[in-house]
Amino acid sequence: MVYGVILAGGIGSRMGSVEKPKQFINIGGKPIIIHTVEKFMMISRFEKIIVLCPEDWIEYTDEIISKYIKNREKIVVLKGGDTRNETLMNAVKYIDEKGVLDDETVIVTHDAVRPFVTTRILKDNIESMDFCDACDTVVAATDTIVESFDGQTISQIPDRKFLYQGQTPQTFKAKKLWELYEALTKAEKDILTDAAKIFAIKGQKVHLVSGETYNIKITYPYDITVAEALIKNEI
Ligand code: CTP
Repeated sequence: MVYGVILAGGIGSRMGSVEKPKQFINIGGKPIIIHTVEKFMMISRFEKIIVLCPEDWIEYTDEIISKYIKNREKIVVLKGGDTRNETLMNAVKYIDEKGVLDDETVIVTHDAVRPFVTTRILKDNIESMDFCDACDTVVAATDTIVESFDGQTISQIPDRKFLYQGQTPQTFKAKKLWELYEALTKAEKDILTDAAKIFAIKGQKVHLVSGETYNIKITYPYDITVAEALIKNEI
């Protein structure tokens, strides 16, 4: 079974919006999170689409989903966690309690604030589960990436041809992810903020799926301007 998992448990502190978390800001006349849910609704294979948000925003999220999405029976709204991984694990716990969590259960996890994900990316993620247990959506790095340990001087400049920028979705065999996550120490959990990294660090293969440069994560106010332009096809 394949489940969609939309991560909206953050507060968007870098956006500086005091009224509401960034996933609820309108672009193109509707909330960012609604654009993302609409993309997931285009994939018929999802058994359920699980949306996780801060506890105080559950009712509001439910309301806007009912307002904008027709036939929303597949969508459930749940409480997120204190960290992105805890939010993700809340989805896995839900599947364990209310759905089917077995070796073949797949979760397609995605940042609510990446509304420009495509059906091609979502399908490539799902199809990769035929031959691997984890995949990450990436684009080749275009800028030279400079590493500095002190923020003052260069430590090294890795060869760009081996570097990619991570996006989402990230897709996993859910049970495997859960087992790997539960085996981590508290210190490891604090460091391993990226779920794909949990697989990679434990020596598990993580397949790369091609993303799109426009599959941006809305993080800063500038990104809202870019997102509006993308919606109007100005870029
Ligand atoms: N996220 C989540 N649960 C958390 C933290 C983040 O589901 N406890 C989600 C966010 O809602 C977002 C995605 O993870 O859709 C990517 O995270 P990021 O862009 O860092 O979002 P925020 O944590 O909200 O932003 P900031 O770091 O600026 O506070």
